Amino acid sequence: MDAHPLKLKVRSYVAETPFIRSLVFGVEDGVVPRWQAGAHLRVALPDGGDRPYSLMALPGLPDDALALGVLREEASTGGSQFMHALKVGDVVKASVPVNNFRLHEGSAPALLFAGGIGITPVLSMATELTARGISYRLHYAGRMQGLLPFLPQLRDICAKNLSVHYDSDESRLDIAAALGDAANAHVYVCGPSGMIEAVKAGALAACVSADRIHYELFKSETPSSPDRPFEVEIKSTGQVVGVAAGQTIIQALEAAGLDVLYDCQRGDCGICQCGVIEGVPDHRDVILSDDEKASNKVMQICVSRARSERLVLDL
Ligand code: FES
Repeated sequence: MDAHPLKLKVRSYVAETPFIRSLVFGVEDGVVPRWQAGAHLRVALPDGGDRPYSLMALPGLPDDALALGVLREEASTGGSQFMHALKVGDVVKASVPVNNFRLHEGSAPALLFAGGIGITPVLSMATELTARGISYRLHYAGRMQGLLPFLPQLRDICAKNLSVHYDSDESRLDIAAALGDAANAHVYVCGPSGMIEAVKAGALAACVSADRIHYELFKSETPSSPDRPFEVEIKSTGQVVGVAAGQTIIQALEAAGLDVLYDCQRGDCGICQCGVIEGVPDHRDVILSDDEKASNKVMQICVSRARSERLVLDL
């Protein structure tokens, strides 16, 4: 099955900030796939990999178009540089939309939190909540003025339901205060892992039940430390597979002809979770608790790597 069946042709792009551009695509050879707020698709890259980008319900977007927002990271592994070099008329391949970050059904209010480029799925959520007439507030945080993308569009979409926070002044986001009386609300957060963890902890402290806390990681493409190769042993067969520095465990297993279950490939859905029989994982996901990570008994093989020379996995 083709993992990237859509052909998307660049219609236009806009520099939303010095580092973030929005791109509007038309769909070649077919109809625009249906999608809902929180969905993303994966754009195929020239190096054989792909990158997830959230779909954006930008105001005025034609029905036959799709829009993405992309942060350019100078030390990126290729995705953002590629997306920022696209010109009108260029065609990219992409997956069908996938949604691991859905809005709730029903009429319960929502509290939305977004940090930086994490606004891309949250903007679509605000659009849908506005259309459904559901009470919500969007807290949008960034380092300083001029670096937050899509503010004019958000002011159109959200009107008085938008609170903007800059780390550099007194408007800085106070998560506990923002959560206020949130016990009956659904809480959504997308941004850097530190923000996600802070909102999750704050929401639990505000008595929001865990099933009402929804999050999606905006993962930097820049690795925190250089990766190195290691080996994975399949417990059931004894097969040993080498994982190169530039490969994920899933990519190495698939290259070796093994079938592996996965979805988000960002360490936030839990589908690829795997038991660890021996060895020490280098946990890079945002879904395991601190205790689970410390136990080294399970890991997310889409993003996590190894501190030991070899991992024996319960596969
Ligand atoms: S595929 Fe989603 S956590 Fe690994």
